[in-house]
Amino acid sequence: MSAFYALLFTVAFLVLVIGLAKKIYQYSRVPAPLKIPVTPAPLTKGGVAVRLAKEAILFAALFRSNKWTWLFGWMFHMSLFVVLTIHLRYFIKDVPEWLVLLQPIGKYAAFTMIIGLLGLLVRRMFVARVKYISSPSDYLWLLLLLVIGLTGVTMRFISHTDIISVKEFSLGILSFNWQTLPMDVPLLVHLFLVAILMILLPFSKLLHIPGLFFAPSRNQVDNPREKRHIAPWAAELEAEKNKMQPK
Ligand code: HEM
Ligand code: HEM
Repeated sequence: MSAFYALLFTVAFLVLVIGLAKKIYQYSRVPAPLKIPVTPAPLTKGGVAVRLAKEAILFAALFRSNKWTWLFGWMFHMSLFVVLTIHLRYFIKDVPEWLVLLQPIGKYAAFTMIIGLLGLLVRRMFVARVKYISSPSDYLWLLLLLVIGLTGVTMRFISHTDIISVKEFSLGILSFNWQTLPMDVPLLVHLFLVAILMILLPFSKLLHIPGLFFAPSRNQVDNPREKRHIAPWAAELEAEKNKMQPK
């Protein structure tokens, strides 16, 4: 069983890293021939950096669009960020002081994460216009994250697992020195679903993580009057035409 999990995580890690890198490369090469920043938009590159940071950290556009979705969505994402940060202790040999200090408070982020997910699930199930456009995968992602959260809480607060062995197991995967995993059901479910998440991420809606930064409506500078915007293919055509015209 430990060997199965070690193999699963090695594959999941490779799929995640290579899959994400390929997607990011693909996104970076998609042409954006038109100037389409959603206005009011920043006039400088620095302004765009601030805008993207506000989107990634505060979910500013979602806040303007719908307060309930923002509340549960933001609660879920911020809690997930804390949860993942305190998980770093399984992957760093000598855990730094700040990470140790974060543990006793950070463990409660699991609850706000679960409340956020439940709110998002209720929204999909009971808000008619959202339900109408929801596909099975929309529900499945929320359920997957919920079960990961619930098995995590079970291990942290109810039925503990041997976290020293878990750490040896995760460090072992990173160094190809496979270790045995404690055979506890909540841990096995937790890790199996995490591996599924890692494998599906590069092919799913979770691509909104890198995608946000490539959205032309958010990452363009609003300067079409100051600077003429010409798509590369149009610039080539223009140069051709100029060459052919008699002097
Ligand atoms: C830079 C990091 C991230 C940003 C800025 C971000 C932003 C967002 C925003 C704004 C939404 C709301 C969409 C809407 O309904 O209008 C959303 C939805 C969602 N995000 Fe993220 N996200 C990030 C990372 C993640 C990660 C790491 C996960 C999970 C591993 C995740 C899982 C989800 C899920 C499942 C939804 C759909 C919720 C629903 O409407 O049912 N996100 N994200
Ligand atoms: C390979 C990656 C992961 C490993 C090895 C791992 C392992 C664990 C373990 C051993 C615990 C119990 C902590 C304790 O008893 O002190 C735990 C808790 C938890 N896990 Fe994970 N986990 C992983 C990834 C994730 C991911 C991706 C999520 C979220 C989507 C997550 C969400 C949680 C939550 C919410 C808890 C409960 C609160 C806490 O202790 O942080 N885990 N995890």
